[in-house]
Parts: sequence; C-alpha cells; structure tokens
Amino acid sequence: MRAGEYSALHRWFDVYLDGFREKGALHPLYELKRSHSLRVADNAALLAAGLGLAPGEILLARAAGLVHDAGRFAQFRDHGSLRDDDTADHGAEGRNTLEALAAGFFSDACERDRLFTAVQYHNRRTSDIPALKPESAKLLKLLRDADKLDIIEVVLASVAADGFRYLPVMLPHMEAGRELTPGLLAKAAGGGGLNTSELRTAADMLLMSASWFYDLNYPASHRLAVRRGLLSRLRRELPATDETADFFRNLENISQAAAAGGKGGEMDAKEILKAAWDLREGPAVFTTVDKDGLPNSVYVLGMKLLEDGSIAVIDNYFHKTRENIKNGSKGSFLFLAKPRKAYQAKGRIEYFTSGPEYEEIRAIVDPKYPRVAAAVLRVEELYSGDEKLL
Ligand SMILES: [Fe+2]
Repeated sequence: MRAGEYSALHRWFDVYLDGFREKGALHPLYELKRSHSLRVADNAALLAAGLGLAPGEILLARAAGLVHDAGRFAQFRDHGSLRDDDTADHGAEGRNTLEALAAGFFSDACERDRLFTAVQYHNRRTSDIPALKPESAKLLKLLRDADKLDIIEVVLASVAADGFRYLPVMLPHMEAGRELTPGLLAKAAGGGGLNTSELRTAADMLLMSASWFYDLNYPASHRLAVRRGLLSRLRRELPATDETADFFRNLENISQAAAAGGKGGEMDAKEILKAAWDLREGPAVFTTVDKDGLPNSVYVLGMKLLEDGSIAVIDNYFHKTRENIKNGSKGSFLFLAKPRKAYQAKGRIEYFTSGPEYEEIRAIVDPKYPRVAAAVLRVEELYSGDEKLL
C-alpha cells in the first residue's frame, strides 16, 4: 500500500465517522471505538515492523487496524448493542461497509482483498476461520493480535476509570461487577477460550482478556504485552485466590517463553523507526545539551534515516548545537508521524564533514544551503509518547 492510498483511506474513515456525530459530537461509545481503531492501527504497524515486513506491508497492516471495526458503528446505531451473537457479525458487516465505500482506495486488488478478509474474520473464533492463503492469514493474525493488545488496554483503563460503567451499554447482558462467574476460571485455565456470550461481569471480561494470551500469534505480540505489563495489570484487577495465582503463573510462563522465542518476530528498533519515519510529517526537533546540562533545541528539515538506523541531520546554520556536539553532547530527535504520533530517538552524536554519512545527507539538501556537515544520531533509545520502544 502506498502512503497516498493510506492517507485517502484515513480521510474516508474520518468522514465516515462524521456521519455518526450528533451536534458535532460522537457518542462516547463511538469515540471509544474511534480511538481504539487508531491505536490498533499503531499496534498493527509496530507488529508488522517487528516482523520485518516491507514499508508497503507495514502500511497495509496499519490500514487494516484503522478500519477493522468499520462495522461497529452501524451495529451500535442499528441494534444498541455490540454483542455480535444477537445483532450482527461486525467483522462481516465491516467488510460489507468497506466494499461499498472504500474499495476505490486500493490500487492493488490483492492487497484490498487481504485487508477486507482480515477485517471480515478479525472477530471470529480461531476454529471458525476458513483456510486462507498464507499472505492473507499473516495479515489476519497480525490484526487479531494488534486488536487484542488494545482491547486489553481498553478493558484495564475502563475498570480503572469507573469500574467499567460502560460495559452494560456495550454488552447489555453484562454488568460491571468484580466477581468471577463460577466455572469460567477453570474453563479459561483449560485453554479452551471464552465466548463473550458466557461472560456476565467486568471480572469475566478481564479474565477473557487474560485468556487471549494463549492465542497471541507472534513473539513480537508477547513482547509488546510484556513491555506494557498487561498480564500483571490484569492480575491485579482480579480476585487474589490460589486459582487465579496459578492461572496467571501459567500464562506468564507461556508468554515469557513466546516473547523470548523465535525468529520472524524480532521487534527490531530499526524497523520500528523505519515504519514511523515513512509517516513522518513536518520539521523535527533536535536537542543537545551544553557542558552545564542546559538544553538547546533547533528545528530541522534536512534529515535522513540511514540504512543502519541512525538519523543524519544536516548542519546548515548550527551554532550552539555544533558547539554542544563538539563537547560530546548526547542528543534527542523528536518528530511527528501520521496520525499525530510523536517519536523520540536518543543517543550519542557523531559529526562528519566528509565520508558516506555526510555525502548521503548532503545529496538530499538544496545546494543553496551551506551543508557544512552531517550530525549523525546513533539511536540508543526510542520512545513513542511515554512508551519505551528500545
Ligand atoms: Fe472488532
């Protein structure tokens, strides 16, 4: 998928959601689903980058995350519930919506079909998903992991905010209680998976979220979950009994083993940075410090992500920055990626007035500028918002 196609799809999604506004505002539940969609898009791009996929595939994953719940909005408008069992299959409805309204944003019919298929099956039980071509199955698995990782965050945040007051609004057969329904824990511990229809309380929802750790598809997904502390946060919200302790100990073992495992899932900071870089917009902020620790920030426009994952910045008119670098300052590089997500890279800085790094950045900067040197940030830490990615 190309950046222009993604932008057009994103614009369509915004306009589509505008149709659900009343007096300019979205119902809180629609807003919850809108922000969930944006975060699933981010998660999907992170996982795709972690799998080492090409930039076009990372964007396709991001797009799948963005529109995966396209069926939710009409579902809630028409049925007043998000329970698929007695309303509509929101995955299938999402596909119908996209086919009717968004098919034109894809220049590649195979990519379009893979995305639509991922949306269609993202909410199915694993056993109910038909056999798919490998490339379609991969996108679907990635989307399912990205979705689950964020639903867990939403459940945790809702419980923390108000004991999940919205739960009965979303799923009218449930209530916001904190007791586990008898028999559910044993079923979850058996690895059989739980159905939304058998849940009754907020505690049951937390339990189902934890049981998803049996189903995560990629080591990168487990690593993301570990970094966000999802299992331990879920554990803290459930009644502390011997049974829950055993259940979580087992899941932690499974998740840690999976997180440590396997090729093809390495969450490579270089790939994450590359995925974000492709969606970069506007100038970046480059910060150094002087000998006394006083920071100095400059806007930069001439910048390039080098093959090894370092960030090269052209020195046109550096003054304080140059002095700080020559004094051994470390640096930070802050930039925005669509849709309004901040990334910050930190590390030591090298300064080149010749050589390949200098030539690379010099080549992309207009010769009307002095192009004195290349400041190259060797990325040692990477953050997105307050989340540490490296
Ligand atoms: Fe969904």
